[in-house]
Amino acid sequence: MRAHPHFRYEEVANLIAGLVDSGTLRPGSRAPSLREISKQQRVSLSTALQAYRLLEDRGVLEARPQSGHYVASRAALRLEPPAISNPPGRAAPVVISPTLSKVMQYSVDPRFVPLGGAIPSAELLAAARLDRFLARAARTKGVSYNTYTEPKGELRLRQEIARRAVRWGTALSPEDIVITSGCMEAIALALSIVTRPGDTVAIESPTYFGLLRSLEALGLKALELPTDAADGIDLSALKTVLERNGVKTCLFSSSFNNPLGCNMPSENKLKVLALLARYRATLIEDDINGDIYFGPQRPVPFMALDPSANNIIYCSSFSKTVAPGYRIGWMATKTAAQMQSALERKLAFTLSGPPLLQVAFAEFLSSGGYDNHLRRIRRAFEDTIGQMSRAVERSFPAGTKVSRPAGSFVLWLELPKSVQTAALFDEALKNGICFIPGNAFSISGRYGHCLRLSCGHGWNERIEKGVMKLGKLAAAAAARSEDAFFSKR
Ligand SMILES: Cc1ncc(COP(=O)(O)O)c(C=O)c1O
Repeated sequence: MRAHPHFRYEEVANLIAGLVDSGTLRPGSRAPSLREISKQQRVSLSTALQAYRLLEDRGVLEARPQSGHYVASRAALRLEPPAISNPPGRAAPVVISPTLSKVMQYSVDPRFVPLGGAIPSAELLAAARLDRFLARAARTKGVSYNTYTEPKGELRLRQEIARRAVRWGTALSPEDIVITSGCMEAIALALSIVTRPGDTVAIESPTYFGLLRSLEALGLKALELPTDAADGIDLSALKTVLERNGVKTCLFSSSFNNPLGCNMPSENKLKVLALLARYRATLIEDDINGDIYFGPQRPVPFMALDPSANNIIYCSSFSKTVAPGYRIGWMATKTAAQMQSALERKLAFTLSGPPLLQVAFAEFLSSGGYDNHLRRIRRAFEDTIGQMSRAVERSFPAGTKVSRPAGSFVLWLELPKSVQTAALFDEALKNGICFIPGNAFSISGRYGHCLRLSCGHGWNERIEKGVMKLGKLAAAAAARSEDAFFSKR
């Protein structure tokens, strides 16, 4: 078992072990040199060496004379990743709210071990720094900003967002952006401008339950596509639904789908765009997790891959990286008619967002602290994902499969079919633990033996005990159903 880090060398060791657990460093591959580690992590060579010795003791790395350190072949997680999903392939009306109401109530309740809501802990968010910008804005500009803004939102914030988008290749003007109340409002606006009640929207399976809730509220049908836990949706299935079902709207994640963590490679994204252009369909992309990547580069959003496309609406927010409570998200489109419809709806539903929060956020972004902050939380999330995967391996029943996300901060578990995670949820609550049962992520009813764990809180004793206990409850449920099966024979 990995110790809770007390010393810097332990932290560095945990970081490398996290890279191995998540598959970023593959078994047999060369580990970064001691010199690289010392430079990247700003530690002395002797601290880097101490970290590597610890990893050798744990069997994660092997030293090869004259050649450096390599990832030991047995260091990889033994649990298999989930297989590609297999939803029914039919469009169906969405009814998800009853499933969600109970789950949501507990996932924000601090009395439970927080494996439920995908919400980073307050310590990991840059809350204090951001609050200082808000206090200053309130002191110096409070009166002048206590009014309505234009529905697009504060120009300075839109400029900051457009500046950041340039870095990953999206040329946006502030005029292409409307500030929303989180990514959720961006997605609801986007859906409402390109669909009518009764239309069908193609989605990943499993997918984030909030998206299902929006489809339900807008009277839309969902058509779930087979989705691979590493590479995302199956392209031939997409072609079929565009061709045969006449689907005109797709709602996909640009990076690290919630809950699988899958990340579609750019070459597949280009194929998706070619298909959508051919069948004249619109893509709404949800890039909320794009900044939380563990590899060397940020995943490229669809919009950046085809700057001339006029059938892509981009949605994102800062809820997963900085401040879910500030509710700052945005929708971007390069199509004037779509922007016009979005603004009309925005005016109809909310008039405009709170300008003071938007100004404070713009100042926070322009102060340059966001990138440092991102580096810190990426490391923390990756470490927790690695540690949690190991704890799952130690405690969950044989046959459990676990995702290998290369970004974001959730794990998707597929348990043996006999374990019903809705029942496990009730048992977990009695033991003070919350997680999200699999059926919240689909309307197909096919994920009754799956669950999602949040890694949004740094690794600590409470979380570790919670995961181990949950694994034991799941193992006991699997054993009970095995006994029942044999006693019937
Ligand atoms: C994939 C995805 N999209 C959108 C949202 C909603 O984001 P926001 O809180 O910014 O509205 C979430 C929140 O969990 C999410 O996971």
